Amino acid sequence: MVGQPLRIAVVGAGPSGLYAIEHLLEQQRSAVEVDLYERLPTPWGLARLGVAPDHPEKKLVIDRHFAYLLQDPRVRFLGNVEIGTDVAHAELASWYDAVLYASGGTGDVRLGIPGEDLPGCWSAREFVGFYNGHPDLTDLPIDLSADRAVVVGNGNVALDVARILTMPTAELERTDISDAALDALRRSRIKEVVVLGRRGHRQAAFKNPELEELEHLDGVDTVVDDRGLPSEESIQREVHDPEIRRKLRTLHRLIERPQVSAGRRIMLRFLESPVQLLGSGRVEQMEVMRNRLERDERGRVRPQPTGETHLLDAGLVFRAVGFRGSPLPGIPFDDARGVVVNDHGRVTDSERNPLPGVYVTGWVKRGCQGIIGSNKKCAAETVACLLDDVASGHFTPTALSADAALARVRERASVVRWGGWLAIDREERAEGRLHGRPRVKITERRHLLHTASTAGETP
Ligand SMILES: Cc1cc2nc3c(=O)[nH]c(=O)nc-3n(C[C@H](O)[C@H](O)[C@H](O)COP(=O)(O)OP(=O)(O)OC[C@H]3O[C@@H](n4cnc5c(N)ncnc54)[C@H](O)[C@@H]3O)c2cc1C
Ligand SMILES: NC(=O)c1ccc[n+]([C@@H]2O[C@H](COP(=O)([O-])OP(=O)(O)OC[C@H]3O[C@@H](n4cnc5c(N)ncnc54)[C@H](OP(=O)(O)O)[C@@H]3O)[C@@H](O)[C@H]2O)c1
Repeated sequence: MVGQPLRIAVVGAGPSGLYAIEHLLEQQRSAVEVDLYERLPTPWGLARLGVAPDHPEKKLVIDRHFAYLLQDPRVRFLGNVEIGTDVAHAELASWYDAVLYASGGTGDVRLGIPGEDLPGCWSAREFVGFYNGHPDLTDLPIDLSADRAVVVGNGNVALDVARILTMPTAELERTDISDAALDALRRSRIKEVVVLGRRGHRQAAFKNPELEELEHLDGVDTVVDDRGLPSEESIQREVHDPEIRRKLRTLHRLIERPQVSAGRRIMLRFLESPVQLLGSGRVEQMEVMRNRLERDERGRVRPQPTGETHLLDAGLVFRAVGFRGSPLPGIPFDDARGVVVNDHGRVTDSERNPLPGVYVTGWVKRGCQGIIGSNKKCAAETVACLLDDVASGHFTPTALSADAALARVRERASVVRWGGWLAIDREERAEGRLHGRPRVKITERRHLLHTASTAGETP
């Protein structure tokens, strides 16, 4: 292997794959070549297809940082190639010195209650993909003709969904939201979005900046269930965690906020869990259980059903109770946690023995938690393991040459190269300029591939 560059396949062009590439380039200088495989024709993972369209500042990292990594001559973008489908893991492993999975959170957590599969009950993952123009989700028939939508879950994703469902479409028209979602939202008859948290105000998973955004939603009233909400005085006296304090104070401000009665409102309810969804042919109602809080033996605050239930009319339900990684054929997977089995980023078998040359990072390594920046440290840990293994001679030199690997991939898929993505990017931005928007996303895979093909062949 002496004198040969280390050839690495990274699978997944989301934030964690990109941070892994950044660390590899920094540490290995000229002695590394990376092929970045991505199942979609477009890079950036949830930074493009998850981050809410009204949060453009959260996407700046794409142009300011990630795009530079993919312009580096040591890195090749190989889009529209799904590992596990177009190319098997065993093949990929035989083409490269090491394979690093960064395939993210492509699945979601279910509620496990009766009625969950009724039409009208969607996962937040599906709705988020729909409004962000994910090619697999852009055509979902999401019907917004009900009066009330219920969002189950109390995290930032639940707030994203509630905000997008209620905010004025005039504001969304200036964003990169998908055209299909914009159309659906223009026709929406939703008047109320109920956000249902199974634990109390103090335990809510959303962060304060995202909660504060509700204070500035034009034309949207906010109603907060204040049962059990500590008073302003007791917050000062009893709540020592600064983040929780800030959130409780924001909840008070949301209560005191002048109501505009504009016809739309967001209601935040706490200590309530869905028990079942009811309806003939589609979801019409949700049975809701009141909870109380109890500490378990490890001191964690858990929701416990009180037995007190009520029915809530709900023509539309979103479960926003978390994302999970999806299994990759040939790679050990912990189904309970929704992650690839690993030890600090080294993929291991069921006996905890590392699989030589196979690594994992990001949401599919540690679970679907954390913001874009959280993936940087996670990727640093994985890359450190990989480079330690290189230094200690764990690798047998198996890599094909760059040309040979590309020829193999091209036998399997119509690959979108970096130039192809730039053609998509140019067309989206050009269309956006015509409409006063940052970009108009191309959402159909066929259209994406056609646009990419206009860039011609990249060597
Ligand atoms: C709705 C939502 C909104 C968010 N908003 C914010 C925000 O505003 N600010 C913030 O900082 N963080 C936000 N986050 C968190 C942030 O998006 C994540 O921390 C980050 O995207 C995780 O990075 P990742 O690379 O592990 O996964 P992902 O971003 O999911 O990327 C994984 C990539 O792997 C690809 N892939 C999957 N399987 C395969 C395969 N078999 N072969 C090839 N490619 C594959 C996927 O297509 C995808 O492109 C949000 C998350 C969600 C869900
Ligand atoms: N603007 C941003 O920066 C932004 C935007 C979106 C997402 N993100 C990040 O992306 C990550 C994922 O966000 P997320 O909202 O999907 O996950 P999350 O933060 O883990 O929130 C999940 C929520 O679902 C609840 N829940 C889980 N199972 C439930 C069940 N069976 N019944 C009822 N409620 C249930 C959880 O309650 P318990 O707490 O009781 O378990 C929690 O309130 C987070 O780290 C988030 O910060 C960031």
